[in-house]
Amino acid sequence: MTRTVRWLAVSFFILFPAAAWADAPALSGFVHIGAQPAEGVVVTARRNDSAVSVSIVSDARGRFIFPAGRLLPDAYALTIRLGGYELAQPVTLTLRAGELANADLALTPGHNLSAELTDADWLTAMSGSDRDRRALATCLSCHSLERVVNSTHSAAEFIPTLRRMLNYAAETGQNTIPQRRTPVETPDARLAEFASFLASINLSQKQQGWRAGLHPAPPPSGRSQRVVITQYHLPRPNIEPHDVVIGRDGAIWYSDDNEPVLGRLDPLTGDVEEFPYPLLKPDQPPGGLDLEADGEGNLWLALMAQGGLARFDVTSKRFTLFPVSPGLNHDTTQQSMVMPAGAAVDGKVWTTDVGTRSILRLDIASGVYERAPVFGPADKGSHLPYGLMADAQNNLWFLDFGAEAIARVDAKTLVTSVYPTPTHFSHPRRGRLADGKITFAEFGAQKIGVFNMASETFQEFSAPAAWSFPYDAAMDRAGQIWTGNLANDRVTRLNPQSGATEEYLLPEHAAVRRIFVDESTSPPSLWLAGNHSAALFHIEPLQ
Ligand code: HEC
Repeated sequence: MTRTVRWLAVSFFILFPAAAWADAPALSGFVHIGAQPAEGVVVTARRNDSAVSVSIVSDARGRFIFPAGRLLPDAYALTIRLGGYELAQPVTLTLRAGELANADLALTPGHNLSAELTDADWLTAMSGSDRDRRALATCLSCHSLERVVNSTHSAAEFIPTLRRMLNYAAETGQNTIPQRRTPVETPDARLAEFASFLASINLSQKQQGWRAGLHPAPPPSGRSQRVVITQYHLPRPNIEPHDVVIGRDGAIWYSDDNEPVLGRLDPLTGDVEEFPYPLLKPDQPPGGLDLEADGEGNLWLALMAQGGLARFDVTSKRFTLFPVSPGLNHDTTQQSMVMPAGAAVDGKVWTTDVGTRSILRLDIASGVYERAPVFGPADKGSHLPYGLMADAQNNLWFLDFGAEAIARVDAKTLVTSVYPTPTHFSHPRRGRLADGKITFAEFGAQKIGVFNMASETFQEFSAPAAWSFPYDAAMDRAGQIWTGNLANDRVTRLNPQSGATEEYLLPEHAAVRRIFVDESTSPPSLWLAGNHSAALFHIEPLQ
């Protein structure tokens, strides 16, 4: 199908209400294990050679139905996700205009339980202290725990493996060629202690009692089944989408953790365009992380080990690069975050330097960076500024991932105020500032935090499931709070008034990072990047 024809076909479904489109094919079915209905099964339909697949979830009676207008007359393959099970045989079918197709999906126990468990499943069953289990979260940014728990290293053998991991750059991913960085020093004693923990949970020892408790988390139930998930498969498996932003052109823009490009997805067609930018440091890993819009709709990208920021003009499609100033630029300079939202106020853009665990600020007109003295020399070691937000005066609010606080840096005086979260080891990671509130993910505490900027008070919610490691959180205009969870392939939606939650399960392992609420749909929906699945996902609750 040509691009134009495909666009017309797809947009027709989107623009016309289902009832008016009598010729649309429809698909419903029954999913079962033996004679028993199987509920909470994620059923995915993918058209031959299409970059877009659509998933829905079976209900308590094992029934599923794809809402009208989501599928085209064509050949489809169906796949499922239910921890511990697989399809008894491959299912393909051809949908015809105006017809209701019916699919009978028989499941059998899966042949590879290990691959069907999420990182949260492993962590929940695992023996070991909370500290050691929390430390395993550092592995998840590059790969799932399956590699760790199914390894056979003794404690001594694990040490060289751990040293090798420490030499890989954060831009390395599950499906990519490892990228190297300037090695990081880690004390031998901590490495040895951690290595003996790892050798106690892998296959090097016969005593593996904890594995008896290994099982997939229960499938989605009740309202968590009322969702349509559209997955946009990006053109190459080594693309590592990290952040997503809905641009002012309506496209979904994403940062790529692995290659020096900015990506653009057309949600109507699934077409992807990539915009390359020149390297600032050809000998350092490429790839960008935080992607944020400024007040004019330009997109800013944090260039990680390249040492700087890039501004992308969405209209002219041109990049302007801002390398970190010479005095502040060194081998381990790493810009993970950027915050341009308040740049119209004073011409300044905030960023982080992971190498020195500090905050930098760029003056756009001169291209000069300065360091904000946010921590004294004594307490520096424990801090690590992460998610950044700016208020109406372009004061910076940042999440201190290394410690357990939100901090505010005054734009005029650079004086820093620190607000510790009620929970210890909360490791606040990323979030959003809106309507006088900062909604953020407490990565280490498996909680969602809401900070009221006027009263300087916190509220915390234990919404995401155990060991899910919420990476990011945001409140939508309906007041619901969303999180993207790194370790359990689920997105949580919480109603802070009633405490009710939904947990939407993605069709595959994704390593969810940044989320972006789409306020143009009713109810609001969510976009996110599957960092390990080379895909973007659109989560649309049905109600
Ligand atoms: C910065 C990215 C990165 C991080 C973080 C990372 N790994 Fe890895 N890991 C890799 C890559 C790339 C490979 C495959 C290449 C290799 O084995 O060197 C790998 C492979 C492995 C393997 C299989 C190979 C072997 O030697 O047994 C184990 C086990 C492993 N990692 C353990 C860990 C543990 C434990 C952690 C967390 C403490 C961790 N990794 C963190 C990138 C990473």
